[in-house]
Amino acid sequence: MDKNYTPSEALASVVEQHYGAIYRRIRQKTSAVVEGIVISGSGLNAALEHYAAEETIDLHDIEGFPMPTVKGHSSFLRIVTIEGKRVAHFTGRCHLYEGFSLQDSLAQIALGKLMGARFTVLTNSAGGMHHSYTAGDIMLLTDSLNLMLRPVQRQWLASLTQSARQERPELDYFRTASGESIISTEWRKRIVPVLAARGVPFHQGTYIGLTGPTFETPAEARMYRKFGEAIGMSTVHEAEFARVCGMHVAACSLITNMLPESAAVNVSHDEVIHAAAIGAPRVAAFIAAACGVA
Ligand code: HPA
Repeated sequence: MDKNYTPSEALASVVEQHYGAIYRRIRQKTSAVVEGIVISGSGLNAALEHYAAEETIDLHDIEGFPMPTVKGHSSFLRIVTIEGKRVAHFTGRCHLYEGFSLQDSLAQIALGKLMGARFTVLTNSAGGMHHSYTAGDIMLLTDSLNLMLRPVQRQWLASLTQSARQERPELDYFRTASGESIISTEWRKRIVPVLAARGVPFHQGTYIGLTGPTFETPAEARMYRKFGEAIGMSTVHEAEFARVCGMHVAACSLITNMLPESAAVNVSHDEVIHAAAIGAPRVAAFIAAACGVA
């Protein structure tokens, strides 16, 4: 795997400050130590149903844990072993468009990290923009474009770490090397031949992350198409946070709909869930391959 990023002490204190209490409540339910985190996107839990869970925690029972509200997302933490790697599988995520704070929407990443994770596998449903894609295809992320909330992210961290900053003004809390993709290139290059050998069709491309919740206008679609191959409302901030927490990140989009070339098309959330059900086995293959070579 490519060189890992060492999280700063300040970041560790941010994680403790904001997620420490929830972590200790989880620890009252499970002592499991995990190697990785898997987060399922909209309607993608079916992808992992066939892995029996060693332990299942209903996150409703964990006071303070943010609860997903979107159809297709549930709220369990399952401890499962996938291709020899024990992982924390979170069956839902909390999107920013649901009104969650950045801190809440990163809870799974922080908790997985505290449970020992060294890698993160993210899956999502996305709109396809490359002309060769169709609904039901999967795309491995080669890179990500964060059009979400970088300023908010910075503000959040700055406020959290103000005292640390005063003590050590040179601290650089939230940064990976310049020119480096947040998505692990080396890991992806190990996943690709495994998927190919297993006969799973896939694309590779750049994912653009927006806050949503509205789908794109034709003018927006024209613009975004110049910069990426798929677009969605999650993943990029999780990937960044996982990376600065010192984890390797692999991610995969399931294309649930194509963005309109010209006239507007209504994309319903039900359609997204339906296409996700069709593509779930491909996503399962991605997750298995990713864990297998992590
Ligand atoms: N746009 C943004 N996010 C999405 C889409 C889309 O078309 N489909 C699924 N998530």
